[in-house]
Amino acid sequence: MQNPTDDGPAAEAGGSAGDPTGFRPVGGRPGGRRGWRVGDIDFTRADGRHRSDTTLFYLLTGASFVESGSELYTRNLLTYYRDDAPIAAWLGNAWEPEELQHGAALRAYVQAVWPDFDWEAAYARFIAEYARAASPDAFEATPGLELAARCMIETGTATLYRMLHDYAQEPVLREVLAHICDDEISHYKHFLRFFRAGQSSPGGGRLRVAWAIGRRVRESRNDDAWIAFRHAFEVRNPGRPCLPGDFARWQSGWQAIIRRTFPFRMAADMLLAPLALPRLARRLARFGAEVALRRALLA
Ligand SMILES: [Fe+2]
Ligand SMILES: [Fe+2]
Repeated sequence: MQNPTDDGPAAEAGGSAGDPTGFRPVGGRPGGRRGWRVGDIDFTRADGRHRSDTTLFYLLTGASFVESGSELYTRNLLTYYRDDAPIAAWLGNAWEPEELQHGAALRAYVQAVWPDFDWEAAYARFIAEYARAASPDAFEATPGLELAARCMIETGTATLYRMLHDYAQEPVLREVLAHICDDEISHYKHFLRFFRAGQSSPGGGRLRVAWAIGRRVRESRNDDAWIAFRHAFEVRNPGRPCLPGDFARWQSGWQAIIRRTFPFRMAADMLLAPLALPRLARRLARFGAEVALRRALLA
């Protein structure tokens, strides 16, 4: 098989804000969540129909890197919440193993469909740089604000996987993405519940909460993606340094997928839920949030 490089011949390329439990799982698990295991998925069934989709390759590879690096920031987060037993227990017993399983499943898929890509080599390079970026200093000023910011991060992952699930055609990939998306929605709900439990009044300090969420939205846009893309690109294209233009080309491919399948309404509802806005204000804010998200993601 020809090694797929970017220059080679294979390179063609809802719920209400008050009650986010209205988000329905996409993984066909109604009536309560049941666990899934990466070992139960037969990756040999994956066919090669997405093999020439370079945009998807870098999206899945980048996601597999960040998910596999969960151990790093779980440790930091556990330290941050060491005095809050329920949160610390959930982070260690549920959240971390689920995030790591996301990394394992995405990695297995990438290796099944793009077997010539040296995933381990690229991940080793990625994690060395990513570890420096994931320091405790990056957390919000208070544990409550950090929980609100975590809601934003889980919104980002849940909507990313929902988008990719709706974009993907290959059945094994759709199965993997459905499971992961359901998990991310569950993570979001946990962080939202912990956040609400710690509030003295519903919606108290909305401006600070909105600021914390907005700051994470702005900061999270490109940093992780650039680190992941650069290392995946340079391992996939030996001897060729990754240039900003390479990243920009990938981003425009990614934006085409966003235009087609990104769940803007779901993202807006999830981002606004921690603010516990009154009904009318929520509808206006949802409209504003959708516009802002379109501008941010498609700029
Ligand atoms: Fe995840
Ligand atoms: Fe998550």
